[in-house]
Amino acid sequence: MPHLPAAFPATRFRRLRRMGALRDLVQEVRLSPADLIWPIFVTDVPGADAPVASMPGVSRLTVEGAVRAAEQAAALGIPALCLFPYTDPALKTETCEEAWSPDNLSNRAIRAIKAAVPDIAVMTDVALDPYNALGHDGLVRDGVVLNDETIEALVRMALAQAEAGADILGPSDMMDGRIGAMRSALEAAGHKDVVILSYAAKYASAFYGPFRDAVGASGALKGDKKTYQMNPGNRDEALRLVARDLDEGADMVMIKPGMPYLDICARVKDAFGVPTFAYQVSGEYAMLKGAMLNGWLKEEVMLESLLAFRRAGCDGILTYFAPEAARLLRA
Ligand code: PBG
Repeated sequence: MPHLPAAFPATRFRRLRRMGALRDLVQEVRLSPADLIWPIFVTDVPGADAPVASMPGVSRLTVEGAVRAAEQAAALGIPALCLFPYTDPALKTETCEEAWSPDNLSNRAIRAIKAAVPDIAVMTDVALDPYNALGHDGLVRDGVVLNDETIEALVRMALAQAEAGADILGPSDMMDGRIGAMRSALEAAGHKDVVILSYAAKYASAFYGPFRDAVGASGALKGDKKTYQMNPGNRDEALRLVARDLDEGADMVMIKPGMPYLDICARVKDAFGVPTFAYQVSGEYAMLKGAMLNGWLKEEVMLESLLAFRRAGCDGILTYFAPEAARLLRA
């Protein structure tokens, strides 16, 4: 329990707010570049390495550009990058084989980054949507997203990513049982130290819109993802999902989206005390960045929004602001 303050004027809270030095001394929660994971979009489709219209300031990068980003991250003290491929539409099928091709774009980018900047942790996305002609995170039959068949595909995909040198796998698909299946396949293949950061509590959110533009999935997606992603009206279910994924072998867990779900972040950290991450998703970025560019909000909202995650108990944040925020934090 917090100590109850003595009555005024023995207690004046403003004493500790009078000057920056005192405010710094008593600050409870801090944000540093080391708390950030930088999601980037990669492509090898000629001409697609261009700005993403709904995410001002974010561009798709070539593999070479991704290596430059990794160097930039290292210079800024950002420990990890997360890769999302914009796949050539000609490679998308309903069976999604490209997802586990050892030489797919994402796996080539992993190898290139690990060769050039080995100290940067490379995180991947494990889900079928960038490769699926139907735009879903799982295999679809007769309009139904299949759980168990999808897991087999995801396990292949995860193994190919681990083989390419990924440090952190990020299953974002929300199928049931995928963490356990991936963990045992990784152990069996000798990838014992590959980290799984499970998107444990991922909500069916309209805040993902700009991301789907960035990876070229918007056009393909038929319907919505509500049969596998969480209902935004639920909270206890998030705790059960986190418990389940930890039990199946996740090393770290994620809540997604971020700012609209800070209550969930706080409950997860309080309940489990495990490494907990939040994803400040594309729509949150677009909202804040758009307002900043219009002069409606000051740039300070960026660090304030990120600090909120730390206050809610998150150990780290996936954010498109990572390089910009790290630069400000180091200034
Ligand atoms: C899909 C995936 C999504 C995001 C990360 N992985 C979108 C979705 O579920 O449709 C969203 C990230 C963002 O909005 O920034 N596997």
